[in-house]
Amino acid sequence: MTEQQPIYRGKAKSIFRSDNPDELIVSFRDDITAFDGAKKDELTDKGVYNATVSAYLFGRLEEKGIATHFVRMEDERTMIVRPLTMIPVEVIVRNAAAGSLVRNYPFEEGQRLDPPVIVLDYKDDARHDPMINEEIIVALGLMTAEEIDAVKTIALQVNDLLRAEFGRIGLDLVDFKLEFGRHGDRILLGDEISMDSMRLWDMETHASMDKDVYRFDKGDVMATYATVAERLTGA
Ligand code: C5P
Repeated sequence: MTEQQPIYRGKAKSIFRSDNPDELIVSFRDDITAFDGAKKDELTDKGVYNATVSAYLFGRLEEKGIATHFVRMEDERTMIVRPLTMIPVEVIVRNAAAGSLVRNYPFEEGQRLDPPVIVLDYKDDARHDPMINEEIIVALGLMTAEEIDAVKTIALQVNDLLRAEFGRIGLDLVDFKLEFGRHGDRILLGDEISMDSMRLWDMETHASMDKDVYRFDKGDVMATYATVAERLTGA
């Protein structure tokens, strides 16, 4: 598998073809990047921690009836998934203000958002993932209005499950990003759900337990990722 050329190489994952045409092989690499790739490093086992957490959460979501691309784990950093035609819209759910919301709007860091706020970004590094609205998504032909509603409903269901999962291990789910794709006539949750795509704050100390540790040099990134993976999955 690893000798094969990837059909797609993202910033932290590589996608390979499989012998089964209804499966793809996703390898979670140890690369970590931030600020549209301006900051990058390789951190041993980072891919394993993100794959482990993603697989665990996709499994929990499937148990709750939320359709995802996850099929199974091949090894500790290799995930078998359904092939999706990705929709270039990042669906971000925010339970508290942080990151770009605080940079761009007059929110206090940590201000609770109840009900949660959903932000849609157009996924395009060259354009720095600008915020997009529903009319633009429809005008670009990316999704119908009904599909946008369906995806937002799923994102809030995912939020409920993730908040409970992380609450159980003393972590506050501040925000997270989802990506969806088409598989036949269905839209499935794709990509990953990991420390790279969420903000998690320790409920007691408010310390970051996610990629912000890497973005802003807040501490030992791998110790942080390992702690989240171990507490969440018990492994
Ligand atoms: O940067 P921003 O505050 O908009 O990020 C919101 C959430 O979405 C964070 O958890 C961040 O890690 C995630 N995100 C992501 N990929 C992006 C942009 C944001 O995973 N391209």
